Amino acid sequence: MNYFTVFAKKLYTALGNKPKRGLELGKIEKYENVYVVIENGKIKDLTKEKPVDAKCIFADLVIPGFVDCHTHIPFYGYREMDFLRRVGGLSYLDIHASGGGIYETVEKVKNAELSELVRFNLKLLAKYFKKGVTCLEGKTGYGLNELDELKQLQALKILGKISHMDVVPTFMAAHAVPKGTSPSEYMDKVIEMLQKVQNDCQFVDVFCDVGAFDLKQTEKLLIAAKNMNFKIRVHADEIERTGATQLAVKYGATSVEHVLKISEEDIDILARSNTFAVLMPATSYYLNEKYAPARELIDKNALVALASDFNPGSSPVVEPSFVMNLAVRYLKMNPYEVLTAFTLNSAAVLGLADKIGTIEPGKDADLLLYNDADLETVMYLIGITPDVIIKRGQIFEN
Ligand code: NIG
Ligand code: FE
Repeated sequence: MNYFTVFAKKLYTALGNKPKRGLELGKIEKYENVYVVIENGKIKDLTKEKPVDAKCIFADLVIPGFVDCHTHIPFYGYREMDFLRRVGGLSYLDIHASGGGIYETVEKVKNAELSELVRFNLKLLAKYFKKGVTCLEGKTGYGLNELDELKQLQALKILGKISHMDVVPTFMAAHAVPKGTSPSEYMDKVIEMLQKVQNDCQFVDVFCDVGAFDLKQTEKLLIAAKNMNFKIRVHADEIERTGATQLAVKYGATSVEHVLKISEEDIDILARSNTFAVLMPATSYYLNEKYAPARELIDKNALVALASDFNPGSSPVVEPSFVMNLAVRYLKMNPYEVLTAFTLNSAAVLGLADKIGTIEPGKDADLLLYNDADLETVMYLIGITPDVIIKRGQIFEN
């Protein structure tokens, strides 16, 4: 039996297995001088009484492991020149339209063997885990043909087994239109591929935007995916306002991603729905774009989660503290809102809120332990790493 305890001078966590909406996001539980009792990988108790005969680890600050509900892992290689071209004045769309951007990564992923793809991403996940991310979502979308999309899905499956993190796969063959094909022709192929991936993932995502898929093509995919019981997610209103958010809400999407350009009406519709707005401020930073209207969404009672969008183009970040820092700085979220959005609410997007995302009895023991830090430090000190990471009761010292 694996039995031990963590003594926290301060412990912050959201509570429960229901995501927090609107102002509820800012209501976190704060405990002082508390023991977290861990048995066989699960949290057994949260108590003021020192458990007898248990090994004890002390920490100034304990919080739940971060859950990153939107990344583009697995990718292969980087795109440093995209970054420099954008700084030089080219837009994300200019680069994409000239055959660069996503297409550059598609070429690299196609040319990589499955083993190389796994090796490259395993290294990234190891770095990210050390920073406190204990669960991550990853997407296909750099294959754009059946063979390479399935290769990415396979890589995600392997990564889930051999990395320390929980890895949740999403099928996103509708990430870009392959060169030489028409969007509607390719969308029909994506719909055919759904059957092949049904047993391997629960989520389907689509990039509905200028330069990718329009509302009509997106709607066709959403209908097909829903009929096959997939949960749907939509990259919506990121580059331009297309109306994708409203379309996604209409089809009961789990989440809309980015929503940088949503209108007042979109905000109202989203706030009244059960669709999450997944906010990713690092993308706005890298694309030099506006930030999502987080304050309005929260103040109007929307469901909000925070994620990195980790990818080699629009968000090359292996750094959760940077994402949280931007959320405080530019999304104007307070540290309690940020913590809930990056733990419980992110877990809820992935359908895992019963299992992870908070520190309470019955959930997996996924904890981050820091010394000489308080909650605010974690969002202010870019690059801070937990001193100890506990994943399903396993202890990793940094
Ligand atoms: O979420 N918007 C589309 N996809 C990604 C970017 C992927 C890439 O540039 O490689 C995003 O920003
Ligand atoms: Fe994305």
